[in-house]
Amino acid sequence: MKHVLNEILLNMDLSGIRRFSEEANQVEGVIRLTIGEPMFDTPEPIKQTAIDALVANDTHYPFAQGLLSLRKAVCEFEKKTQDLDYSPDEVIITQGATGGLFTTINTICRPGDEVIILLPAFTIYKPIVEFADANPVLLDISEDGFQINEEKLRKVITSKTKAIIVNSPNNPSGISLSKQSNDILERIIKEHDLYVLCDDVYNQLIFEETDFLVRRKDIRKNIIYIQSFSKPYAMTGWRIGYVMADKEVATEIAKVQSYGTSGVPPFVQRAAITALSTDVSHMLKQYEINMVKVTRLLSERKIPHVKPQGAFYLLVDISSCNMDSWTFARKLLSETKVAVIPGEVFGAATDRYVRTSLATDIKISLPAFERIADFIDKYGQKVEEHA
Ligand SMILES: Cc1ncc(COP(=O)(O)O)c(C=O)c1O
Repeated sequence: MKHVLNEILLNMDLSGIRRFSEEANQVEGVIRLTIGEPMFDTPEPIKQTAIDALVANDTHYPFAQGLLSLRKAVCEFEKKTQDLDYSPDEVIITQGATGGLFTTINTICRPGDEVIILLPAFTIYKPIVEFADANPVLLDISEDGFQINEEKLRKVITSKTKAIIVNSPNNPSGISLSKQSNDILERIIKEHDLYVLCDDVYNQLIFEETDFLVRRKDIRKNIIYIQSFSKPYAMTGWRIGYVMADKEVATEIAKVQSYGTSGVPPFVQRAAITALSTDVSHMLKQYEINMVKVTRLLSERKIPHVKPQGAFYLLVDISSCNMDSWTFARKLLSETKVAVIPGEVFGAATDRYVRTSLATDIKISLPAFERIADFIDKYGQKVEEHA
């Protein structure tokens, strides 16, 4: 063949989450604890707004940066919930957080730039950085209680470091960065004048109060805040989110967005305005109830795990079983018909865990967690809970 495709793709595989989920889908009667989306449907008022907008023919090309009315609503929402001061021209409406991350990374990175990714991490960061011909620098923080160790972070910073990606509460650990971790980040970001991408898509799904880096006014010009409607409003299939950044950066992100996607459908944006004023507290409450029930069960069964502070995932420690996380997940699937995500997909050090989901019907998932506990009892040796 004469034409050669982009060679960056040669070393890029489908995400491990996708690969394992496809394996699990082949098993009849499987209970999926693999899912990274709410078990709820999108609330009715949000859907109705989209229907009304369609009927009113709100189906024409949108302004690529996003409807002004939505960008205004986002600014008001973020002022009220996070005390952030941004103007509508500092907001870009994106195709979910995924679109926001893709557009942002392609805006800020030049070939050879380095982007620090704290592990464990959501699986899309590394390939997106690679797509931009930049270099992902992976820093595992799981051995430090999922918090920042200043010395280790300083060691990976070079003259090529352009940005750090932080995700708090984190997928897959559910752990939020502490004030102390954010103090370290703030210091280093200021000192080296780095961008920090705050992927805070779970910041409404928290079980305890926490510190957020995005609120730090002193590094406002360094912060690029990534948000999504997917998780809090059960809108994963609508593909809408937003990015907020200092005007100078936001203008360039909007430019990339205009060439990359031409914006988000206007009727979807109208629905998002309704979402921002929709009460979703019952969903958040349910994730917390699920978390309490599952952690209680695992503690009673003396199965070590990481107790999440937010999001809707829970890492089960499988190190007592002396199996890598793919072997564990495949064996668990074939013997018990319970599907979990191998921790290795989030970084090598999380191979000692599997990720489970709390965003499932608890009546179905609790018996599945019992099966996981039985499986660990069968193959592992009991160790003390460590988190
Ligand atoms: C940490 C994190 N960031 C971003 C996303 C992508 O969200 P969206 O559906 O808005 O693209 C996810 C989805 O699982 C996630 O866990």
